[in-house]
Amino acid sequence: MKTFRVRAFLRQRVMQHSMQQIFARMYLRNSWGSGESVSGEGSELMQTAIVRREIEGLINELHIKTLLDAPCGDYNWMRWVRAELEQYTGVDIVPELVQANLRRYAAPRTQFAVLNICEEQVPKADLIVCRDFLVHLPLRAAVAAVANFVASGSKYLLATTYPGLVRKNKELIIIGNWRPLDLQLPPFSLPPPTRMVNEECTAKDDFDTKSLGLWDLDDVRSPSQRGFTRWCGPRFTAAESRLRELTQNSP
Ligand SMILES: C[S@@+](CC[C@H](N)C(=O)[O-])C[C@H]1O[C@@H](n2cnc3c(N)ncnc32)[C@H](O)[C@@H]1O
Repeated sequence: MKTFRVRAFLRQRVMQHSMQQIFARMYLRNSWGSGESVSGEGSELMQTAIVRREIEGLINELHIKTLLDAPCGDYNWMRWVRAELEQYTGVDIVPELVQANLRRYAAPRTQFAVLNICEEQVPKADLIVCRDFLVHLPLRAAVAAVANFVASGSKYLLATTYPGLVRKNKELIIIGNWRPLDLQLPPFSLPPPTRMVNEECTAKDDFDTKSLGLWDLDDVRSPSQRGFTRWCGPRFTAAESRLRELTQNSP
């Protein structure tokens, strides 16, 4: 395990592998180790029963017509969500994965595209689903992704969060590893979500708070939302300022 970590660290820091190279490698090697989904055990049908049911409910209740699945991974569970959408778009940084999804599942109302959520403009949707993603990224990249969701002009964000599990969000040294994040804590400091869906995850011991928080992005963009900048480490720069700008300068 230690050797694996040292190698991964060297590839990322010394050989400067890009985020796309890192996740493409993980996809091709099935590094998350599930026999059912290349996105890992958390993306198996058994682990997503509640998620699928709750998302179907939200789509109906909030009159969601366009859904952006960011990132979509291999679309293993989302394809079983039964909903009347005008458009589903799944985006992911790994071209091979997106190609495979296009081959298997593309339809007039179901599309997939390669997108680096941390660095590129995110398309507007009624609902962005961001599940099991930010936890695999360093804080700066995770904040950049949230900033891009806010900037997209989308209406709602449904994102993985672990309410109350940690006192402080930790940095991640090796991209693609995992640690829990609480999106209400710095550097995200999102307001309390309008809804919290506990996934009732059984994959690991400390997963029992694993949830999807629902944020109305108009609330996040509101000028009265001042929570964003309590934490500002020296390594943490443009992404957080961008998030602050987006949330504090909106009308
Ligand atoms: C653990 S999977 C989760 C997929 C899906 N949300 C789910 O619940 O099954 C994480 C995915 O994030 C993708 N990814 C990593 N960095 C990304 C980035 N910067 N932009 C878009 N996708 C990214 C990876 O390729 C991988 O498919």
